[in-house]
Amino acid sequence: MERKRKYVIKGRKPLKGEIEVSGAKNASLPAICATLLSPGVYKLKRVPKVKDVFCMLKIMEHLGAVCEFEKDYLKIDTSKIKELSVPYELASQIRASILFLGALVGAYKSAEVPLPGGCAIGKRPVDFHIKGLSQLGAEINLEKGNLIVKTQKLKGTTIVLDFPSVTATENLMMAGVLAEGETIIKNSAKEPEVVFLGEMLKKMGAEIKGLGDDTIYIKGKKKLKPVNIEIIPDRIEAGTYLVLGALMEENEIVVKNINKEHLKTPILKLEEMGITLERVDKNAFKVKRGKTINPVKIITAPYPGFPTDLQPFFAVLLTQAEGISFITENIFENRFLYVFELKRMGADIEVKDRTAIINGPTSLIGSPIKATDLRAGAALVLAGLCAENTTDVYNVELIERGYENFVEKLSGVGAEIKVEEDED
Ligand code: EPZ
Repeated sequence: MERKRKYVIKGRKPLKGEIEVSGAKNASLPAICATLLSPGVYKLKRVPKVKDVFCMLKIMEHLGAVCEFEKDYLKIDTSKIKELSVPYELASQIRASILFLGALVGAYKSAEVPLPGGCAIGKRPVDFHIKGLSQLGAEINLEKGNLIVKTQKLKGTTIVLDFPSVTATENLMMAGVLAEGETIIKNSAKEPEVVFLGEMLKKMGAEIKGLGDDTIYIKGKKKLKPVNIEIIPDRIEAGTYLVLGALMEENEIVVKNINKEHLKTPILKLEEMGITLERVDKNAFKVKRGKTINPVKIITAPYPGFPTDLQPFFAVLLTQAEGISFITENIFENRFLYVFELKRMGADIEVKDRTAIINGPTSLIGSPIKATDLRAGAALVLAGLCAENTTDVYNVELIERGYENFVEKLSGVGAEIKVEEDED
């Protein structure tokens, strides 16, 4: 069992320099599963080397794929898939393992995937995934915690999602591209990572219309072909570093490899706060802020609304704003656990129902805190970087699930952050 580690951060160091955003974790995970849809060799560029990716690749290897990072791409060979069931000990580490369901049922008309558990931010059921696959003709049974899916063939039909779920849309697209006839997914998710998967499937020969819209039309094909692709930049990681640049007046951060199109709403919100981006190169932007930050109201929503994954970072930033701000979390029922850690650092923040009320500015004081989930953990590191004295952040393995070279990237702009064994 890997020994637990913590980050030890010395706060209030003015940060200056460039940070390069990696490829998107949440585009890489479905793309890895999509390589099961046509046996062959795929080369995926800019896949981030993070724990969630390594876990999905271990599952791929269990199924019979050969996966290795070579030069600047990840090579996946799915010519010899010999297994159609995902092992519990690997799947239980990552909720995105549910994406193997759509890919395996789509390609092999059979799959066995453990029912994912909930996590810190909410129950996160998969009923939309199950309902959609059953509507396509799959027979789904739950046996000893595993979803057993079998079908003679998948037949296209119209599926209406109760909510524009990101991975449910991705699963149903992967099942639909090899189904017979047309599959229509109404109330589909529009996130850039969903569009990216759709574009990859089209490059593989799938016929898909409506990507980025609220209805996706798929005309099933008999077979697809392997492709090489480059993963889009990680908009949530980009947002993380934009907030870093605004955290302290003395910071001078340039964030590189940003796709501004994917960050419209968060950038508008930053501008409302008095924080702007100055283009210094094609996809590189310098974060500019005034002496004070304006308080704002944030409401999370499906894309293109304000992304739930960025709300913890904006909460940290809003502890430095002049006045009262509100963040309403509409996607997950339990995504304010980090608030209690921020309060330990002196933040004036209360949660009422689904809204965090933040009174600023307050100077944060370094304290021992713990990451409660991936994004909250990264946000608490940012809090430590703008806090007086020293902050120890525990449970950092949660952060390393989705942030490639996080400590190196922060140290690269002058942060004083060390990784230490967690004594206990
Ligand atoms: C994806 O999760 C992302 N993960 C999450 O990022 C992100 O927070 C989320 O989308 C929202 O944008 C990946 O892409 C791997 P949903 P997903 O299905 O697909 C409910 C990160 O930090 N729901 O869009 O699981 C669900 O409970 C992670 O990288 C059902 O009720 O999110 C939630 O309240 C965190 N039944 C809402 O819908 C279902 O069958 C949105 O969930 C499916 C979802």
